[in-house]
Amino acid sequence: MLLKCKNCEYEWEYKGKSGYYATCPKCLRKVSLTSKGTSTSTFGVSKREGHDSSFFYSRKLYHMVEIDEKMLDIENPVPSNILDKVLCQDSRKMDNIPDSSVHLMVTSPPYNVGKDYDEDLDLNGYLDLLKSVFSETYRVLVPGGRACINIANVGRKPYIPYHKFIIDTMFDAGFLMRGEIIWNKAAGAGVSTAWGSWCSASNPTLRDTHEYILIFSKSKFSRNGKNKDSTISRDEFLEFTKSVWEFPPESAQKVGHPAPFPVELPYRCIQLYTFKGEVVLDPFCGVGTTALAAIKTNRHFICLDNNFEYTEKAKKRINEYLAQTKMSEYVRG
Ligand SMILES: C[S@@+](CC[C@H](N)C(=O)[O-])C[C@H]1O[C@@H](n2cnc3c(N)ncnc32)[C@H](O)[C@@H]1O
Repeated sequence: MLLKCKNCEYEWEYKGKSGYYATCPKCLRKVSLTSKGTSTSTFGVSKREGHDSSFFYSRKLYHMVEIDEKMLDIENPVPSNILDKVLCQDSRKMDNIPDSSVHLMVTSPPYNVGKDYDEDLDLNGYLDLLKSVFSETYRVLVPGGRACINIANVGRKPYIPYHKFIIDTMFDAGFLMRGEIIWNKAAGAGVSTAWGSWCSASNPTLRDTHEYILIFSKSKFSRNGKNKDSTISRDEFLEFTKSVWEFPPESAQKVGHPAPFPVELPYRCIQLYTFKGEVVLDPFCGVGTTALAAIKTNRHFICLDNNFEYTEKAKKRINEYLAQTKMSEYVRG
């Protein structure tokens, strides 16, 4: 069967299984899927352990992607001068990070809402910025590598569903979507009083007590775990695989950044999606929260932010954390 890649327009003769998914041999966009066990019920919900989903995935709904799960597991080394480092750089260009070398990206992008570091971009300009960074992320991720993006929607008149636009942007960059986590911050969040018209149908507005963590992968769904160690416990696995997470937000004052996420957020993503010793990237690292979670879990990190003040704070925070935990010097320069 002759296939043409929509991304790079490369044409090739596909000799894999018919059904769902193949990978473009040139740019690695889109990628196959098989499993055995129970099968999708035509009525109601069946037990899903060892589920044979071939009936579900053979439906037209899934004819949009071809996946070759057996594609090579490429993992290029990260040069030592950028490994476990916080670097002050614009993440639209990550020329210093090799292709297929990073196992996970966890990040929270700027929200373009007037924080100290925000430019005043229109929606297209904002999405262009994210597209550049996430296309670079796609390049540096290993096949099967995951990308987790923490985002909140903004405004009310009208409400801007950033998560929807970011999902579209990630599809454009070539990613496969794996799921969406609702982070319920309500327990710890100072509940907003911006309710519009109080007890009146005139103009009541919803007060978001949640944010999203959007999950994607590059080219294929699974990672080869041969000779690699997972560090997630049984209880963590049961909790972290739920699509609603509950933990409090981080205090901006305490960490010296206007919009930090708590260590718990990258910690969960790292435990769920990487093996011990792998490399985690945060292209919008702020004061280095992702680095703390990486150190805590024995992973390596590459943290980038284009604001010098934040990168300096991140290094200080990391070294304080290391001193506290009596670990040796980890971040140099
Ligand atoms: C929401 S904050 C991330 C906070 C971080 N998660 C933490 O816990 O500290 C977004 C960060 O993106 C940075 N940023 C904005 N544009 C950037 C760009 N083009 N390249 C790199 N960093 C950028 C900002 O300086 C800001 O620190």
